[in-house]
Amino acid sequence: MDEQQYDPDTLAVRAGTLRTEFQEHSEAMFLTSSFVFSNAAEAAARFSGAEPGNIYARFTNPSVTMFESRLAALEGAERCVAFSSGMAAILATVMGLMRAGEHVVASRSIFGSTVQLFNNILGKFGIETTFVSPTDPEAWRAAARPNTRLFFLESPSNPLTEVSDIRAIADIAHAGGALLAVDNCFCTPILQRPLEYGADVVIHSATKYLDGQGRVLGGAVLGGKDTIEGVYTFLRTAGPTLSAFNAWVLLKGLETLPLRMEAHSRNALVLATWLEQHPKVSRVLYPGLPSHPQHALAMAQQKTGGGIVAFETVGGKDAAWTVIDHTRLMSITANLGDTRTTITHPASTTHSRMTPEQRADAGISDSLIRIAVGLESVEDLKRDLERGLALI
Ligand SMILES: Cc1ncc(COP(=O)(O)O)c(C=O)c1O
Repeated sequence: MDEQQYDPDTLAVRAGTLRTEFQEHSEAMFLTSSFVFSNAAEAAARFSGAEPGNIYARFTNPSVTMFESRLAALEGAERCVAFSSGMAAILATVMGLMRAGEHVVASRSIFGSTVQLFNNILGKFGIETTFVSPTDPEAWRAAARPNTRLFFLESPSNPLTEVSDIRAIADIAHAGGALLAVDNCFCTPILQRPLEYGADVVIHSATKYLDGQGRVLGGAVLGGKDTIEGVYTFLRTAGPTLSAFNAWVLLKGLETLPLRMEAHSRNALVLATWLEQHPKVSRVLYPGLPSHPQHALAMAQQKTGGGIVAFETVGGKDAAWTVIDHTRLMSITANLGDTRTTITHPASTTHSRMTPEQRADAGISDSLIRIAVGLESVEDLKRDLERGLALI
């Protein structure tokens, strides 16, 4: 399939499909841990890389390959390597691209476990990280050192939906000889393609919108062939591999991704607009709202505002918990990107392992609520929130 000539809607449904001799229409699920060779010479050629083909499912499996090819087509990337989770993908990015003694500049508004990974795990192995504002490119320039190898950001960020200027930060990274990695989990390639703005690496928690129905964990790292080679070598050697079953589920998820991202965004904009005029709500953060501090940038860089809305209630943690506890429809769960709306209190869940100072620095207050808007009726969602808001 010549991927250059097809639109994302088509690529999401068809790119990367491999068909066996049985001519199945839906993609096959290859539940096998290894692959057989016709003879010893073929085995040797596969292992040496002289001949392409499957070897062992830690690093080659056709179901996984189909998922990788389809996602690569959507992101406009030369290469994709799939992982067992989004965190495994972030770890592999660092392990594949960096060495001890090198330095990372990262947005201070990133997923809580990513902060832990950089600070407490990679820090033990001699990789130091400086955290900076995601919305101030000059802070990235100031934080860069001669040994800075990687810039890392999420845009929009989790949970505050801050939008980074990917082009400006990529230019600063490249001027100092560093690479920019963007966690594109919130937008997916349907709403934003970071490689087009100069990013070198795109990372996904496929667990979120790529699956889209809260079923499986998965991750992916994408970029140019040469950049991704070390990331692949880490996968092949260390084995944080996406299972064939999960890859198959994710392939089915990708087929409806364009439709879902459009519907999530439509519902989120209606809900954010309603929350913004609500007397019990002190602040709404949604990139699609004109009041969002980086609205213009978001609309230039993204197709829509996406499905994540953050807001603060009047009152503190008790008020936020009252709203959460009086929902009947929304799921109180840490996941996002599901057809079902999810609601969380970031300060006491996803970001609870940060110190209060780190949270304050990142702007995550005790009254902050994050909603990943699903595909239910938005009128039902408003009623679900109103029940608790009326009690504050
Ligand atoms: C923005 C972002 N990146 C990465 C991750 C980690 O992904 P996973 O849970 O698949 O390991 C998450 C998980 O919530 C996330 O929200």
